[in-house]
Amino acid sequence: MRLTRCQAALAAAIILNLLVFFYVSWLHQPRNSRARGGHRGSAASPQVTILVREFEAFDNAVPELVDSFLQQDPAQPVVVAADTLPYPPLSLPRLPNVRLALLQPALDRPAAASRPETYVTTEFVALVPDGTRAEVPGQLERMVEALRAGGARLVASPVATANPTRCLALNVSLREWTARYGPAPSPPRCDALDGDAVVLLRTRDLFNLSAPLARPLATSLYLQTALRGWQVWLLEQRPFAVAHQPPLSTAHARWKAEREGRARRTTLLRTLGIRLVTWEGGRAEWFGCSKESTRCFGTVVGDTPAYLYEDRWTPPCCLRALRETAHYVVGVLEAAGVRYWLEGGSLLGAARHGDIIPWDYDVDLGIYLEDVGNCEQLRGAEAGSVVDEKGFVWEKAVEGDFFRVQYSESNHLHVDLWPFYPRNGVMTKDTWLDHRQDVEFPEHFLQPLVRLPFAGFVAQAPNNYRRFLELKFGPGVIENPEYPNPALRSLAEGS
Ligand SMILES: *[C@@H]1O[C@H](CO)[C@@H](O)[C@H](O)[C@H]1NC(C)=O
Ligand SMILES: *[C@@H]1O[C@H](CO)[C@@H](O)[C@H](O)[C@H]1NC(C)=O
Repeated sequence: MRLTRCQAALAAAIILNLLVFFYVSWLHQPRNSRARGGHRGSAASPQVTILVREFEAFDNAVPELVDSFLQQDPAQPVVVAADTLPYPPLSLPRLPNVRLALLQPALDRPAAASRPETYVTTEFVALVPDGTRAEVPGQLERMVEALRAGGARLVASPVATANPTRCLALNVSLREWTARYGPAPSPPRCDALDGDAVVLLRTRDLFNLSAPLARPLATSLYLQTALRGWQVWLLEQRPFAVAHQPPLSTAHARWKAEREGRARRTTLLRTLGIRLVTWEGGRAEWFGCSKESTRCFGTVVGDTPAYLYEDRWTPPCCLRALRETAHYVVGVLEAAGVRYWLEGGSLLGAARHGDIIPWDYDVDLGIYLEDVGNCEQLRGAEAGSVVDEKGFVWEKAVEGDFFRVQYSESNHLHVDLWPFYPRNGVMTKDTWLDHRQDVEFPEHFLQPLVRLPFAGFVAQAPNNYRRFLELKFGPGVIENPEYPNPALRSLAEGS
């Protein structure tokens, strides 16, 4: 079929008309929605999801928080995340853009329903603490702009509560199981914040963390971001307002929230493997083993404790308990007139840096066999296990003819005491373990004994201990640190 000239002109006119019509209607769309490719929404910032995680079910201002953001933009995506259905129920508006995410898996729901990332489809997410109120328009947009400008992985805006936001430095060492807070060297760039703040970051960054919404949220968030070297930029913009009816305003509610917060914090730090938190000024919080708990690592196989396979060193609480036990045992031996000296890895640690080697799991002392009778606890241990008045347990080791002093009945961190006796000027003993350092040595190393700083006190050690150590472990042992059994796990593998 051939088109006449008239038909062609008509078709061209119709096509032109259609083009003009689409162009004009595109021009008339709201600007924001045009830029986003036609999403629903109006003036504000639907590229940010408000995520509310840190609140107490029994007393909160979450509905007011949500309403305040919806007043600025009715299409604002909001996700309230809780482990289980909050009780008493939260009265949230029934809108498709306001959702409650329950993070604990439930038998009747698919796994995705308990994953918070299922609920967040925007590029950015703002973590908003309970008690916050949006009053000033454009605050989220300014935070997005600051984040886009670069320089920090997170941006934060304070909330005008009684708990002002502080900018902190934070060093996390997994190997040492520690988190150290201090003053930030270059504010407003911080590793962590203390106090209430709205924090904005990219959704993909948040959900690429190991435990994105673990509570207490601020503690868990900054431990994870600091470990990755991500900084928070504390913006100097007008703070977010405080709820008209702030949460936890009675003493009882505050007490309850603090108690639950402490319990959550302990669980969190134990789970993340942080055993010691230190604050500026040196205040220390321990989350590790005690006299009442069991030892925080299992029976050591092949001289290589479990933590070495996880690229970690001895938990600081264990080092502390070992130091305490060693100090105590040395005090008892000295008072009883038992000649003793630092042995094996403990002498090596003393020679290197005056302390227990940071990955060691016990303390070794040599003693003169003929002095055992001088000490009441050792005499008792010959007959069976003795718990002394300080709760330390003295016993004969099951592995052979030596003594062991345990930190407590439940916590089996220990100091081993190896009895030697002289024979023709050579120190020897009756039980030998399959260790390179477990060898006879000339008695002159013990005549006289010298004093050497160790683990926070001064202990006795062989004279000429460098030669003593090289005799036992081989040349260069002081300068070249290595794990106890490099065939299984070596220091080079760890780092
Ligand atoms: C963090 O580590 C750096 C580098 O070792 C050190 O200079 C800084 O003082 C440490 N800060 C804190 C708070 O421990
Ligand atoms: C998530 O983190 C890993 C490293 O931990 C990184 O390689 C990966 O690119 C990250 N993914 C996204 C989407 O950022």
